[in-house]
Amino acid sequence: MDNICIAMAKGRLAKQAVKLFREAGIDLPEDMLDSRKLIFSLPEENLEIILVKPADVPIYVEYGTADVGIVGKDTLLEENRDLYEVLDLKFGKCRFALAGLPDRKESLLQRKVATKYPDFTRRLFKKKGEPVEIIKLNGSIELAPLTGLADTILDIVQTGRTLDENGLVVYENIRKLSARLVVNKVSMKINQSEITKIIDALEKVIEGG
Ligand code: PRP
Repeated sequence: MDNICIAMAKGRLAKQAVKLFREAGIDLPEDMLDSRKLIFSLPEENLEIILVKPADVPIYVEYGTADVGIVGKDTLLEENRDLYEVLDLKFGKCRFALAGLPDRKESLLQRKVATKYPDFTRRLFKKKGEPVEIIKLNGSIELAPLTGLADTILDIVQTGRTLDENGLVVYENIRKLSARLVVNKVSMKINQSEITKIIDALEKVIEGG
């Protein structure tokens, strides 16, 4: 039997993902996230875990290099890859919001939106039927309205602290987000029983069963 490879997003979701797997009886090494290793083999579980930058998780899963992935819905919406989203893991809860300085100029002909999510933002404004100029940034998005680089940001808001401490306000909540389990379309057929076992074990913990 082939090992199932799971691509886990490094960063803010990883700790909770490891906790969830352990609660589901899938014994990931406790110190996994303290090491610099990127691949972890769990032969007794027939599993292999790879630690991947969040935006790369859907890529590893779409290509089938990883059978399963754990990644935020924000990343899935931006990457828009061909894969199955099978489970809402109900952690990493946050939202996409448009935000900026409190004295928003309604008269702007075209909004300048800074974001780590340019593709999602482009689709959002297309749906709104509003013209937009999108500026792709890689982090600290809240700086953009403060420095005059953009008038609006589209970003994830979790506690709201970053907006608050930088004097920014939410203009519009766009949608709720959370971590998701995704599966490669071919793996889902070929390794159905192993993957279903993982999904069922995680679901049981999530639903508190
Ligand atoms: C994210 C996001 C916000 C912040 C929101 O940034 O881009 O800046 O967290 O969280 P809050 O509402 O709880 O304050 P992240 O920490 O991922 O770092 P980044 O700025 O490098 O993207």
